[in-house]
Amino acid sequence: MSPPRRPAPPPRGRHPSPPSPNPQPQPSERGWDQVAGWYDKWVGEAGSDYHRLVIIPAALRLLAIQPGESVIDVCCGQGVLVQPLLHAGIGHFTGIDASPRLIASAQSRHDNNPRVEWIIADVCQPEVTTIAHYDAATCLMAVHDVTDPAALFSNMARALKPGGRAVFVLMHPCFRIPRTTHWGWDADQKIQYRRIDGYRSPLAIPITTHPGKHTGDTTVFHHRPLAELLSALGSAGLAVVASEELYSHRRSQASGPFSKAEHRAAEEIPMFLALKAVRA
Ligand SMILES: C[S@@+](CC[C@H](N)C(=O)[O-])C[C@H]1O[C@@H](n2cnc3c(N)ncnc32)[C@H](O)[C@@H]1O
Repeated sequence: MSPPRRPAPPPRGRHPSPPSPNPQPQPSERGWDQVAGWYDKWVGEAGSDYHRLVIIPAALRLLAIQPGESVIDVCCGQGVLVQPLLHAGIGHFTGIDASPRLIASAQSRHDNNPRVEWIIADVCQPEVTTIAHYDAATCLMAVHDVTDPAALFSNMARALKPGGRAVFVLMHPCFRIPRTTHWGWDADQKIQYRRIDGYRSPLAIPITTHPGKHTGDTTVFHHRPLAELLSALGSAGLAVVASEELYSHRRSQASGPFSKAEHRAAEEIPMFLALKAVRA
């Protein structure tokens, strides 16, 4: 087991150096460390447009935060959820992620806030979270990035007080599988449709993070069918009590039949799945 490490607070007013190199998680346990610079820039200060307009609003709806609650954000990345949760009135935030560079970015944005703490840890290792400590746990856009979702769910369940809530937002496992689901155009019926070339078999799909730049940076998207994810949640002691299917807000600016069909498809076929579970 890799013990969780709390990085030392960075000096005030300066960009922090990366957390202490000793001991560091092994490269395989560092999550998105290799692409941290790109991801930090893509998400930015306030989140990508998907975060701001779709993912975070859904997470906040399902969480229904009560003032003063404590929340652990698992696979927190560069900390996109901190500000919205503080704004919602939480009393304490813990962010946990395997990437030292993403945690360093998170820390540099929130270094002076005593209500916020950061932990570098591989959440697929057993017992990396404090037992029954939090009112709520979140995991945004990362269930498909971990190698062992059962271990992730079990660490989230472990962290929750009895009755605590866990909220997940992930790429919709039925409609959004990289390289396996695609948009198609039916010219006869003028319909934009979603083609699903595979679903049942788990897949590990390499994703190039800078297409066209040939940097060789990749992440791996782990597809698992929905039944497998729901069963793993149940086995971890997390009972699903609500869900939302979330739709892309993006629309092309063009007009005409293709555009109409594209809008309709975007309104009918979900992009993300949000789940709320309660620790049984
Ligand atoms: C797509 S990013 C999402 C980050 C953040 N939740 C957000 O919405 O911006 C996936 C995150 O999962 C983290 N991650 C992947 N595998 C992990 C693991 N085994 N333990 C902890 N974090 C992991 C990565 O480092 C990365 O920050």
